[in-house]
Order: sequence, then structure tokens, then C-alpha cells
Amino acid sequence: MDERQPFLAALGPSTPLTPPLYPSAVYALPDLDALDRILDAKEAGFIYARDAHPNAKRLAMRLAEVEGARWAIMTSSGMAAISALVLASVGQGQCIVASHRLYGRTTQLFQQELPRLGVQTTFVDISDLDKVKEALQTSAHLLFVETMSNPLLRIADLPALAQLAHEAGCFFAVDNTFATPVLVRPLEWGADFVVESVTKLIGGHSDVTLGLVGGNNDMQAELSQVSSIWGFSSSPFDCWLAERGLDTLPLRVKTACANAAALADWLSHHPAVTRVIYPGRPDHPDHELAGRVLHGGFGNMLCFDLAGGRAAVNRFLHQAPGIPFSPSLGHTTTTCSHPATTSHRYVAPDEKERQGITDGLVRLSVGIEDLSQIQGELAKGLA
Ligand SMILES: Cc1ncc(COP(=O)(O)O)c(C=O)c1O
Repeated sequence: MDERQPFLAALGPSTPLTPPLYPSAVYALPDLDALDRILDAKEAGFIYARDAHPNAKRLAMRLAEVEGARWAIMTSSGMAAISALVLASVGQGQCIVASHRLYGRTTQLFQQELPRLGVQTTFVDISDLDKVKEALQTSAHLLFVETMSNPLLRIADLPALAQLAHEAGCFFAVDNTFATPVLVRPLEWGADFVVESVTKLIGGHSDVTLGLVGGNNDMQAELSQVSSIWGFSSSPFDCWLAERGLDTLPLRVKTACANAAALADWLSHHPAVTRVIYPGRPDHPDHELAGRVLHGGFGNMLCFDLAGGRAAVNRFLHQAPGIPFSPSLGHTTTTCSHPATTSHRYVAPDEKERQGITDGLVRLSVGIEDLSQIQGELAKGLA
């Protein structure tokens, strides 16, 4: 007798209130006909976790709803999501047009890895729509942008970019990691694909590494296949944890946005700070655009510049241990990072200078603590 059956039967009429975790890498099937029915999509079921597993399926279904997507797939990281998207939508000899302000590893993927597969990328300033239109004339297959760029928080004009991409007959993909679907659902602005690093705010507790690709088109099967063949599949435990994070996502984002807005104003009056970058402030170059594209807040991320460069940043880190130097974002509590030596470490110095990624630039991922607690710690760091 199969020893699992009495255990499952012991649940009786009860169902667990929290979703079960299914770490199993493989599933047992009663016979060949059952296997055929699952593989032919005539019956729901699972066979091998790299292809699909219940925790990824649950999380993907919930996130698809949150993103306003018809489908979503979970991947092992945000970078795996971007890689799967590119591999499924672009082939040898085809071109990508991408924002010149992207997460450093995404830029490396486009600049270093894809040329090896015969895919070239043109990088453009997506704030200049004429430049984007011009770049798309080169028979581009994919336009790739971030809703809110890392680290300088420039905002993408999603509806205008979607229109340009579609006029040029190309896919439009948006990395929505910094904004999250709480502030904007790129598919509703016309994007063909949305990508999220679930590692960040969606997971929300810095204990998962996961990504998501979602869409409203008919590319789900292709994305799933690419993800399984290239081995981008997600871990059941991470999906299980991320589902718990998802329950509090709107609450966390709202609170963190309110904290970030208040801190940006407070920092702008601090004598040790030479520049504050926050899309919610009228002095941000995309303030008006952010108001049109985002709803309910301007994000939890902000940057500020210290006049003393690297030495001043080190002093800040030593004096403010309550704001850990931790090069990621989206944790429940406030953390900080230093783009010049972390996310943009491998960006050429002249490009960093052109973008304004200085040695004194500190990036804050604002959390959901009491505002006074974060302010107190920042004050210690800036003293
Ligand atoms: C905007 C953005 N996209 C994608 C990624 C990659 O996500 P992951 O670290 O989950 O691979 C990051 C990571 O920092 C990011 O900031």
C-alpha cells in the first residue's frame, strides 16, 4: 500500500488555512494514462518540479491577477525572468532597443551575453521619445525598459513607449521591480510583458530569490518551455515564502511610500546632503510624468548625495548601523546601498558620470518602521 494515502486521508474534512508547501522534486502517477492526460493538458497535475510545481502555480496565479495579466510564470530570480523573456521573444540576428538606465546586470546581459547569441542591443535615453523612435527603425524586436530606473528613479512614459513599440511592430517589456504592481500595472499601459524581481518588494523580507514574467499574449507556453529547458525554474520554498509576502504587499508599499516621501523632504533640508532624488518631489525631472504613470505613491526608493564622496559614505555607514548597507531593496526595514560600487560597479566610469552616479550617492530602500526611527538613524549617519 502507498504509505502516503493514510496521511492525506487523516486531514478528513479539514483544509490547512495556510497553503501547503510541496518541496517534492517529482510526483508519483497511477499509470501511463494519467501521465498522458497531464502532458496533453487534459487534466491538472504535476510530474517534475522543474517543469511545474504547485507552489509556483499558486503564486503565479495570484501574481497574474495582481498584475492584470492573463498568465504569469515564476522563475529562479529576476535575472532568470529577464533571460527567459529575451530567449523566448528574440532570436539570432534580431535586435533589442533598451533603456540606457537599467540595473547593472541587465545591462551586462544585453551588452555582453546576448551578442554571443547573435542578438545586438541599442541603448537609448528613453526620456527622449524621438531617440526611441529612431532606434526602433532598426527593425527592433523588443523594447526593454524599467518603470522606475535603478538607481536614479527616472520614470518611463509607459503609454507613449508602448505606442512607439507597437507602431514599430516590436514587443514592449517592462521591468516593474522598483514600482511594483501596487503603484503601476505596466500591462494596462500597453506593455506586452511585465517582469518583476520578486526577490525585492513582492517577497518583501529578503529571504527569497525569485522572478516573474507575465503577459496578456499567447506566449505563456513558450516562456514556460524556455524556463524549464534553460533551468530557470523557481524553488517551491521560495514561492511559498513569497506568497506570504504578497499578502502584505499593498500595506507595505503604501507605508514605505509615505515614509520615503517624508524622508525625501527632510533630507532635502539637511546640510550634509547636496542632492535628493525622489520622483515625488517637484524638483525631480520626471515628477509630472510619475504623477501620470504611477498611482497611490512615488515608491519606497530614494537617493541622496553626500559631498565628501566615498569617505563620506563610509562615515555614514559606520555612524548609522541601524540602516544596514545591504545591496538589495524592498526589505521590511530601511536599508541602504551604494550604486557606484554595487549595482553599477561594472558600468564604465564616464557612463556613471554621465548618469550622475557619483561616489557620494547613497540609495535608500525605505522600510515600514516608524518614520521617527528611520529619521533618528539617518540623523546619526549624517552628523
Ligand atoms: C530593477 C531590477 N531588475 C532586476 C533585478 C534582478 O533581480 P534578481 O536579483 O532577483 O535576479 C534587480 C536586482 O537588483 C533589479 O534591481
